[in-house]
Amino acid sequence: MRVLVTGGAGYIGSHVVRALLQAGHEVVVYDNLSTGHRQALPGGIPFYEEDIRVTERLTEVLLAERIEAVLHFAALSLVGESMQEPQKYYDNNVGGTLSLVTAMRQAHVENLVFSSTAAVYGEPEKWPILETAPTFPTNVYGRTKLVIEGLLADFAAAYGLRYVSLRYFNAAGAWPEGTIGEDHGTETHLVPLILKTALGQRKAISIFGTDYATADGTCIRDYIHVCDLAQAHVLALEHLGRGGECRIYNLGSEQGFSVRQVIETAKKVTQRDFAVEEAPRRAGDPAVLVASSAKIRQELGWQPQRSELETIVEDAWRWHKAQPGGYGD
Ligand code: UFG
Repeated sequence: MRVLVTGGAGYIGSHVVRALLQAGHEVVVYDNLSTGHRQALPGGIPFYEEDIRVTERLTEVLLAERIEAVLHFAALSLVGESMQEPQKYYDNNVGGTLSLVTAMRQAHVENLVFSSTAAVYGEPEKWPILETAPTFPTNVYGRTKLVIEGLLADFAAAYGLRYVSLRYFNAAGAWPEGTIGEDHGTETHLVPLILKTALGQRKAISIFGTDYATADGTCIRDYIHVCDLAQAHVLALEHLGRGGECRIYNLGSEQGFSVRQVIETAKKVTQRDFAVEEAPRRAGDPAVLVASSAKIRQELGWQPQRSELETIVEDAWRWHKAQPGGYGD
């Protein structure tokens, strides 16, 4: 299919762009480069440095490029910042998506794959988390994504939009060749912070909370390789291409690892020792987040290939070693 990828220069978007090209799709990227990197894009694909909130321009591009489906990643995603600046998050994430689906209606583009998050579940009551679990986000970021899922359902019912919403658990890892990877201006995620510490760019890695009701007292998360996420997007797109129904799917490895286990794995993979500090809990962190991804496995045949924790850390390490300064832009 001929697809538009909004936020295609970002961490997850840029991996999905490559997976789409490998699967034989034609890709056009739309990104305002507010957090993305031009160097994350492969050469030779059409790229529009534009903001999705400018609806008329987006409509024009959808029509001119003869787009059949959109994969939508363009969003802000810092949980802490979202609590300080909710307006910015509602404007970019909710406002941006409203602009996108409006432009899609105007250009008669019906298919959308949406980048959602496990943050929609908030503090889950039981694990593994099914898509039918209650959704009570504990932060503004998660709330914007849940509002968008409601918006998509309403547009689907009234105007025939067809979408798949993918709720990611903890995305990590990098393209196995080490050519693209995670480079956030403000890094808050555990795996890249640990690897930056292993590289000597940070003095120590802090463990946020050691008194959780888990085996070793630290938070448990479900780490999923960014390339496995990317593959799920290709499957979701092809499902819509076949005329498939609207769906919401969790994307996780279905295995939980504690913060201490991730640090130990990183020490083994990098063969480096580094300082680890115990720090207070970070506000809003649930103790355990582990997905059930049975639904997408069964319905679309998704099979994660690289989501063993060691493989995730090895691939991320290759990227961090190759590009210690990230994209350097
Ligand atoms: N952590 C540390 N030290 C650090 C950084 C993180 O101990 O320096 C801990 C966190 O407290 C948490 C775990 O490592 O327990 C993972 O933290 P991340 O920030 O890497 O990821 P989160 O689980 O907080 O966030 C992820 C996504 C968000 C999403 C959230 C909920 O990155 O987009 O899951 O689904 F909102």
